[in-house]
Amino acid sequence: MTESAILARDAMLGDTVCRDPSEEWLTRRKGALCAEGVPLARIAAAVGTPFYAYSAATLRAGYGALSAAVAPHGVSVCFAVKANSNTHVLAEFARLGAGMDIVSGGEMTRALAAGTPAERIIFSGVGKTGDEIRAALKAGLHQINVESAAELEAVAAIAREMGLRAPVALRVNPDVDALTHAKITTARKDSKFGIAIAEIPALYAAAAARPELRVVGLALHIGSQILDLTPFRLAWTAMATLIHELRAAGEKVERLDLGGGLGIGGDGQPGPDIAEYGRLIGQTVGGLGLKLNVEPGRWLCGRAGVLVTQVLYVKPGDGADFIILDAAMNDLMRPALYDAHHPVSPVHVPRGATLRRACRLVGPICESSDDFGAYHDLGSLLAGDLLAFRDAGAYGATMSSTYNSRDLIPEVLVDGNQFRVIRRRVDIHEALRLEQPGPWQGAD
Ligand SMILES: Cc1ncc(COP(=O)(O)O)c(C=O)c1O
Repeated sequence: MTESAILARDAMLGDTVCRDPSEEWLTRRKGALCAEGVPLARIAAAVGTPFYAYSAATLRAGYGALSAAVAPHGVSVCFAVKANSNTHVLAEFARLGAGMDIVSGGEMTRALAAGTPAERIIFSGVGKTGDEIRAALKAGLHQINVESAAELEAVAAIAREMGLRAPVALRVNPDVDALTHAKITTARKDSKFGIAIAEIPALYAAAAARPELRVVGLALHIGSQILDLTPFRLAWTAMATLIHELRAAGEKVERLDLGGGLGIGGDGQPGPDIAEYGRLIGQTVGGLGLKLNVEPGRWLCGRAGVLVTQVLYVKPGDGADFIILDAAMNDLMRPALYDAHHPVSPVHVPRGATLRRACRLVGPICESSDDFGAYHDLGSLLAGDLLAFRDAGAYGATMSSTYNSRDLIPEVLVDGNQFRVIRRRVDIHEALRLEQPGPWQGAD
């Protein structure tokens, strides 16, 4: 291929890669896709494929931009650890002053290990165990968001036993449709999350009367990957009304946790305007004298990560070729779970013909759902080509499994011209070591 043809193709692919300014960490140099200053092929040679790579600069820039949008309205930012729980990713946020939103004892251990002070950690989740509640109270977390009357009883009993006052907020279910995928919708009245808004005044009063509880306020989280700000407006307006009602009844409401859910754009859809998001907080709940926080996960790390995979085989299919990759649904669950479609960039300018050609990117797992979807603009791919699934920094590695006895793949952090492995590959030999049998035990 002539130099000018390569340049023309680079320009075309470069456009694809840098559509969104937040993805400027992915650039193409002499045809090779680079993460900040490091060619992805260089990382592939060092750690093998597939692997996740994250951009430290993009994590930091995202936190800076979101904090700047909400800080004028007195809002602090707690990163939702479930989106990306690697301790080195958490440490990037913790160093900048972020709090953390956790949903398990394991996430608490990670947040603390990453250097987050306990008093900046909020414990959410619909089913905390007794041991988790005990550990949270012992660590002195900022707040436990309680999701049912039964859970409130459990927290009160454990606090009494420990001789402590537990700081609790009640998570409200405001019955608002987040206008997102059904499986990440969490605040309709048929959802398992939160306490029905109508039940809050009685439960709040009952909780406030318990000496072992300190009821600090309310929390909500209406869903994930929300692109239209309208559901936030509806939910937060409902919270303002509820807070007026509680205060009129003589209750003290100090804090309001506004949840996460900010989506990221892609596939031609614009992302939400975060300045507008900040203003909306100010308009709906800003004047109530509350300590406010948000709990974003995806928005802070989704665009900062790629999953790099290698083409194993090209298999002609009915209408479109199957491109069989070495990454699979166990590495990146989102397409199988939520019909998510991740944009893909070739790591090198393709060696095959440049024609636009339909293909399906699939993994090697024995499930028809191991399918990343249809793509039309990848040129013609050959075995050995590397591809990068973009926007894979959130709910990628954290949702991965070892299904089909596959490895947990490496995670790599890039910072400027350097990279390092922040989770090594967990292979079958390590997995087999966990299966050393214990002694047989009798029935009594
Ligand atoms: C309670 C809670 N807070 C925050 C989040 C983060 O959501 P997102 O990554 O969409 O911002 C979630 C995600 O499910 C959640 O359940």
